[in-house]
Amino acid sequence: MRIALATAIAAYALDDDLAPLLDALRQRGHRADTVAWDDPTVSWSRFDLVLLRSTWNYTEQPAAFLRWCEAVAATTRLLNPPALLRWNTDKRYLADLDRAGVPVIAAHFLAPGDDPAAFPAHAEFVVKPCIGAGSRDTQRYTAPNRAAAVAHAKRLLDAGRHVLVQPYLEAVDTLGETALLYFGGRYSHAIRKGPLLARDGDATRALFAPEAITPREPSSVEMAVAQQALAAIPGGAPLYARVDLLPSPSGPQLLELELTEPSLFFGFAPGAAERFVAAIEAVLA
Ligand SMILES: Nc1ncnc2c1ncn2[C@@H]1O[C@H](COP(=O)(O)OP(=O)(O)O)[C@@H](O)[C@H]1O
Ligand SMILES: [Mg+2]
Repeated sequence: MRIALATAIAAYALDDDLAPLLDALRQRGHRADTVAWDDPTVSWSRFDLVLLRSTWNYTEQPAAFLRWCEAVAATTRLLNPPALLRWNTDKRYLADLDRAGVPVIAAHFLAPGDDPAAFPAHAEFVVKPCIGAGSRDTQRYTAPNRAAAVAHAKRLLDAGRHVLVQPYLEAVDTLGETALLYFGGRYSHAIRKGPLLARDGDATRALFAPEAITPREPSSVEMAVAQQALAAIPGGAPLYARVDLLPSPSGPQLLELELTEPSLFFGFAPGAAERFVAAIEAVLA
């Protein structure tokens, strides 16, 4: 099987998952290469499978990225599939999961043309773009700095971007975020990610904000919430899914359901890359 791991020119050296995944694929006899989605010279049809990995700069040109996904999927197999990517690259999917009964962090959505100040009051809150990754353009504010938050929302809205505002779940500061990884619908492993947003601080300008990762054993409640999120995915559990949860006084709440280009944190879980390759083989069989 000829497999492309799709990264970005700017992400080649940053994606720690590429090397262990290449090794695991090659050990199973697959021919695997890392290729940048934003390299126009690539002929994608020569691969049997194009696997989205670290296409992290897609948020700068989401429409072009989704067109690219559809073009690739028209000539070969792209995973996860384009219809799912279109749904999952815009955090408005959180409203769908909320309707399906998944405990998501309360979110207020603003569309271009809306009053940028029309969001509820919170002691501490987060403003972020609906299409975003790596914490870019995401900032945490306290109530006294609401004017700065409104200006931030206005900047995003004026650029034609949808915005969401959430209360800041402060338990992340001590307990961290839990990310649970599922391959082919089966649980593989989990990690803890430290808090990322400084109070009233600046948004990161890098491709992604530096992250403090350690292995973590999820609680049974976290596992149950993650299963609920997986069950709400249109079309069923895809090849890969990462469920990001934040702790709250009322239990774990869904921050993000990452079905597009999640870091899979192979380096923190022995055997995880091999489990992923087994799931790939099961999908292609
Ligand atoms: N409501 C929130 N409460 C606490 N921390 C948050 C909240 N929203 C985002 N964060 C912090 O910002 C980071 C990035 O936000 P996230 O929604 O995961 O977007 P991205 O797609 O950029 O990863 C999270 O990992 C978390 O540390
Ligand atoms: Mg995230």
